[in-house]
Amino acid sequence: MPRLNVNIDHVATIRQARGGNDPDPVAAATICELAGASGIVVHLREDRRHAQDRDIEILRKTLKTKLNMEMAATSEMVGIAKKIKPDMVTLVPEKRQEVTTEGGLDVTGNFELIKDTVNKLKKSDIFVSLFIDPEDSQIQSSKDSGAQMVEFHTGSYADAKTEMDQINELKKVKDSVETALSIGMRVSAGHGLNYFNVREVVSIDGIEELNIGHSIVSRAVLVGMDEAVRDMVYLCEV
Ligand code: PXP
Repeated sequence: MPRLNVNIDHVATIRQARGGNDPDPVAAATICELAGASGIVVHLREDRRHAQDRDIEILRKTLKTKLNMEMAATSEMVGIAKKIKPDMVTLVPEKRQEVTTEGGLDVTGNFELIKDTVNKLKKSDIFVSLFIDPEDSQIQSSKDSGAQMVEFHTGSYADAKTEMDQINELKKVKDSVETALSIGMRVSAGHGLNYFNVREVVSIDGIEELNIGHSIVSRAVLVGMDEAVRDMVYLCEV
């Protein structure tokens, strides 16, 4: 059964809507941990539209579980990661205009940059995961880059409009998990997972972690963060 890591970016999104201090993603992270989350994920974007440097700095000091810092493969972010030393970094693609991370990282197409970034992070003893689409060439390039883990983008599965498309997208994820495991990579998954579509992904053997944000924060607005996280932990476990 996968462990649940909660992405708290959208707690910061609500705070940034007014530019003040509330709600504090650090407080949210503590509640997530108390409710059974195995880790906290934060994406420090170049434009700082949600999480801020201060969030990552305080989380590093206060988290009892693990900090997974999502970031683009830029020298600014590598510098911050080396200073903060999160437990792991997930490299993601970043476009200024996108609403959320739209697709996986093109490791094959940007191989030298990704490999160089992975090397720099690993030299600072940071574990590195790459967020990729479930495609064989991306899996092999991820392995060749020296990254230890791949996170499969489940957005196409989550967005599938018909049952047939959903089955096909899920099969791509399942096959990719097998391929990644067969070449010695560790595997996680995330994006677009919610209380209604997560069970099918949980049932795929070999996925160690699920990284889930928007659906949990959305439910938390209505029922509270503690209950929202406990409900998702339950779905990851049974
Ligand atoms: N994994 C990665 C790499 C992401 O960029 C995101 C979104 O920030 C997630 C998982 C979580 O996606 P969602 O918010 O749709 O659960």
